[in-house]
Amino acid sequence: LPFGLQKEVDAHIKEHLAQKSSMPFTGPIFSRSNNKVDATSRSISYEVHEPVNKRNTVLEKLLQRRSLQLCDQQLNFQNSADGQKMLNFRKSLPAFKERDALLKVISENQVVVVSGETGCGKTTQLPQYILESEVEACRGAGCSIICTQPRRISAISVSERVAAERGEAIGESVGYKVRLEGVKGRDTRLLFCTTGILLRRLLVDRDLTGVSHVIVDEIHERGMNEDFLLVVLKDLLPRRPNLRLILMSATLNAELFSSYFGGAPMIHIPGFTYPVRSHFLEDILEMTRYRLTKYNQIDDYGVDKKWKMEKQALSKKKSQLASAVEGSLEAANYTDYSSSTQDSLSCWNPDSIGFNLIEQVLCHIVKNERPGAILVFMTGWDDINSLKEQLQTNPLFGDKSKILLLACHGSMASSEQRLIFDKPYEGIRKIVLATNMAETSITINDVVFVVDCGKAKETSYDALNNTPCLLPNWISKAAARQRRGRAGRVQPGECYHLYPRCVFENFDDYQLPELLRTPLQSLCLQIKSLQLGSISDFLSRALQAPDPLAVQNAIDYLKIIGALDEQENLTVLGRHLSMLPVEPKLGKMLILGAIFNCLDPVLTVVAGLSSRDPFLMPFDRKDLAEGAKAQFVARGYSDHLAVIRAYEGWKEAERHRSGHEYCWRNFLSGQTLKGIDSLRKQFFALLKDSGLIGDDAESYNKWSNDEHLTRAIICSGLFPGICSVVNKEKSILLKTVEDGPVLLCMNSANAQESKIPYPWLVFNEKMKVNSVFLRDSTAVSDSVLLLFGGKTSRGGLDGHVKMLDGYLEFFMKSALADMYMTLKEELNDLVLTK
Ligand code: CDP
Ligand code: MG
Repeated sequence: LPFGLQKEVDAHIKEHLAQKSSMPFTGPIFSRSNNKVDATSRSISYEVHEPVNKRNTVLEKLLQRRSLQLCDQQLNFQNSADGQKMLNFRKSLPAFKERDALLKVISENQVVVVSGETGCGKTTQLPQYILESEVEACRGAGCSIICTQPRRISAISVSERVAAERGEAIGESVGYKVRLEGVKGRDTRLLFCTTGILLRRLLVDRDLTGVSHVIVDEIHERGMNEDFLLVVLKDLLPRRPNLRLILMSATLNAELFSSYFGGAPMIHIPGFTYPVRSHFLEDILEMTRYRLTKYNQIDDYGVDKKWKMEKQALSKKKSQLASAVEGSLEAANYTDYSSSTQDSLSCWNPDSIGFNLIEQVLCHIVKNERPGAILVFMTGWDDINSLKEQLQTNPLFGDKSKILLLACHGSMASSEQRLIFDKPYEGIRKIVLATNMAETSITINDVVFVVDCGKAKETSYDALNNTPCLLPNWISKAAARQRRGRAGRVQPGECYHLYPRCVFENFDDYQLPELLRTPLQSLCLQIKSLQLGSISDFLSRALQAPDPLAVQNAIDYLKIIGALDEQENLTVLGRHLSMLPVEPKLGKMLILGAIFNCLDPVLTVVAGLSSRDPFLMPFDRKDLAEGAKAQFVARGYSDHLAVIRAYEGWKEAERHRSGHEYCWRNFLSGQTLKGIDSLRKQFFALLKDSGLIGDDAESYNKWSNDEHLTRAIICSGLFPGICSVVNKEKSILLKTVEDGPVLLCMNSANAQESKIPYPWLVFNEKMKVNSVFLRDSTAVSDSVLLLFGGKTSRGGLDGHVKMLDGYLEFFMKSALADMYMTLKEELNDLVLTK
């Protein structure tokens, strides 16, 4: 049944039954009689045959009535003054010209691929056209359209926009659902949701019963979830011949998707944007010089004195700007940007130019350019926050009566997100600092200037070394054009690329699909929990299949941590992990933190592993900084425990409003600690949502002060990242099974120790420079490793055991070990099932 109708139909039949029989109705109507029915429900299941027929007619009548209501509502609004205004706006969008063609193709084909420039009306209009045409045909109540978005913010903002275009409040015929948040009512027929939400729905409803249209938006981004969903939907289509699938893309490479679905028809919506001028880094310098000479010429021609003095003041400012920009370049050691060799990519290091250059360019626009919002593309929310803080200290940007400074990234609150769409008052310039999510999925209408740093944070993964990383990387040419295009929405615009043209020319044409550049562990768990068969078979059917080695690595890893058994079936732990939308290693820590009632420190560890290092090590005050860090490290033998201690100290200081001073004194980054704090809240909400913890803080934090337990849970998550410790006379010898001898990073807490009184270190990250370095580590004991390292630790540990002398090796070889392992496994399952 479509959303919401179930309850109503049930109510009708209940009423009908109550009239027909004197027997009070209790149980659900359509539940089949099972073995344990009592007298009342048996007599009800006997009655079921009649209500089923009745149900169909009731349903039909209801649908008809609702459809008529929807139709009336729609027409009423369209005929009102507001409705006419809205309709006129909608008619001005490029998509409108294709409306009939789109609807015709969709009705005649099961799969259709639609492409069109960002802003042409794909996301807001196309789902609405389908809804409207169904409503007009008086079939409105029977349709159910789902449109997926890669990000929460776009799902929310688009649904609100569409509801407004229909003259409704959100939650009437249009709704949204994202993780932990959603508005939809019993009449909701068009639902915008994140791709993840649709995947979760598939968990409980493999055939998407009752859904009439699935629209997968932004497929050009080639996100992992979207690529994954396409394989699932491709399998589903033959089972649901009435289901319509529409794929929407902002770029022209629609052929790939069309051929994946056996030559599905493609429709392109031709769009209109104003021209945007590109300024590359060399142009930015040139331009400021050019203007200087232009003003000088004006002077030469003898302009009125006062005017001339103003110009002189201006030109002085200009030269200041030019030298500031050049200063930033020098600081970045950037030498030859005119050469167009591949080398220029490696010598160019925008990270070190950083915020100063952006600030200079923003100053330039604010002071010299025409009105219009500025959109700055940056790599991540931490950079965005830091730049925002820096800008706020500049009087030019700190002045709230002139500048509206906003941030736009995926992890911000949705109320905050809405602000970025609003047009500021006359005379106020809006500056939006955004991640690459502002590239295609959201449209900020009044943008005239774009500042593009040229990078985006993306996960990359090297199957051979089996190490994932989330690092800023150069964007593709397609993405750079997309960013530039954001400036030409309402009038001709300007785009400042903070990199030289030669660097742009070396960009890849398109970005590599996420499926080919990220570890596949979480995806493998999803495949298993959706019961989609063999992982390798399934992934080989993807649009672009990932490297089989990467697939095998993921499967092996999941077996070692105990999420899959030897036959590749989900274990109990695996099932729980598949329900948490985080990396399995983090998920495992969270689950164990909840089970062992040791949640608080575990939340901090997990948030810390997902953030930067909060300990600052300024070059010139390294000794002081190390001294400050030492108090957090003391006898912990763990970088992760040090973060917990620092965070808790900061939290305490915040309570006394001295957080800032605390950070200053202890060489901690307040920004990172705030980030950790907000991530903790998100992870907590996930656990709440999944039912792993209840409301009673006292119970899930019962053992939170126990550092031994925390250490053990860290071990459970980081396993099999493990190295052995041998304390020598003057040094400590560390070894991993795969690399042999390894070293600790200078900044690691354990690097300062002359002796580590534990036989093992577990680590999150290692990095190969000349030798292999462990970035962060926690020391653990034999027993902790046995109990918490992996599930059937036999497989995972055997390699390590070979490096051991003494009792552990003896123990692992004895019959006792097998017994112990079985027992542990059973215990694990038992605890998790509960
Ligand atoms: O999906 P696509 O990029 O093709 O465009 P869209 O998101 O459907 O947006 C179409 C138009 O609706 C945009 O050009 C904006 O003018 C407008 N819009 C809006 O005013 N407010 C929103 N929250 C979303 C879109
Ligand atoms: Mg769109």
